[in-house]
Amino acid sequence: MPISAPESPRTTEALLSVADLTAGYGTIIVLHGVNLIVHPGEIVALLGPNGAGKTTLLRAVSGLLPWSGTARFAGKSLAGSSPRDTARNGLVHVVEGHRVFTQLSVTDNLLLAGYDVPRGERHARVDEALAHFPEIAAKRADRAGALSGGPQQMLAVAQGLVRRPRLLMLDEPSAGLSPVLVDRVLSVAASLREQGTAVLLVEQLVEKALRLADRVYAMAQGKIVMEAATSEPDLPHRLERAYFGHDVATPLHP
Ligand SMILES: Nc1ncnc2c1ncn2[C@@H]1O[C@H](COP(=O)(O)OP(=O)(O)OP(=O)(O)O)[C@@H](O)[C@H]1O
Ligand SMILES: [Mg+2]
Repeated sequence: MPISAPESPRTTEALLSVADLTAGYGTIIVLHGVNLIVHPGEIVALLGPNGAGKTTLLRAVSGLLPWSGTARFAGKSLAGSSPRDTARNGLVHVVEGHRVFTQLSVTDNLLLAGYDVPRGERHARVDEALAHFPEIAAKRADRAGALSGGPQQMLAVAQGLVRRPRLLMLDEPSAGLSPVLVDRVLSVAASLREQGTAVLLVEQLVEKALRLADRVYAMAQGKIVMEAATSEPDLPHRLERAYFGHDVATPLHP
């Protein structure tokens, strides 16, 4: 793992720690006592089949959904935090399906994402975010709606970066992208780690996620069913068991 940036010394406390978290929609309980931690500067993959509760967990942690249990970020409880509070503290959630303002320019989308960054700093933050994506930096005056799927997803990630997150939560950033664009978008997670930024990555492309991540959690039916370092040699089999509840003859192919 790369050495953390000097301004963010490694501490023993996790950056994000979630314990016994329960959440759902109205009377439907979706998450049944989830435990998960993310250390400063690590990439953690959160995998699991459709409907497992991955998006629900991200939504609860970022304050978009009510939850019970314990969740702490950067030494403070997340209880009662609104999405605005969590984002301000450096916990940034890039939601599923690239949400950009199609009628606004690339630059204006980014300025809007940094609405509570001090005014004098906003343009520098936009440049900083665009430095990760030369593809869209060249189109900063274009309407976001004129961008194709890959660049729109890059813009959605860049919107998160404007806030200089300590933890960036990405919900299926590769959805609908060509393999080349998937690699481009995911490579940003690796460069963020080099800068000391942690990433919690929800991804359907299992092999790509495992190649990138330091640790992995598998979720099924609203519970964490496996946690491992991605360096573990037996990982593919453990994941199959976690996904399907038993060993299967054919290995997982994303
Ligand atoms: N707004 C909602 N109202 C009611 N139930 C919901 C809502 N959103 C999701 N659910 C249910 O919660 C469960 C978990 O959904 P969630 O979207 O968190 O899964 P996921 O792991 O992100 O799946 P996917 O891989 O398809 O994105 C599913 O059973 C889903 O039907
Ligand atoms: Mg989802």
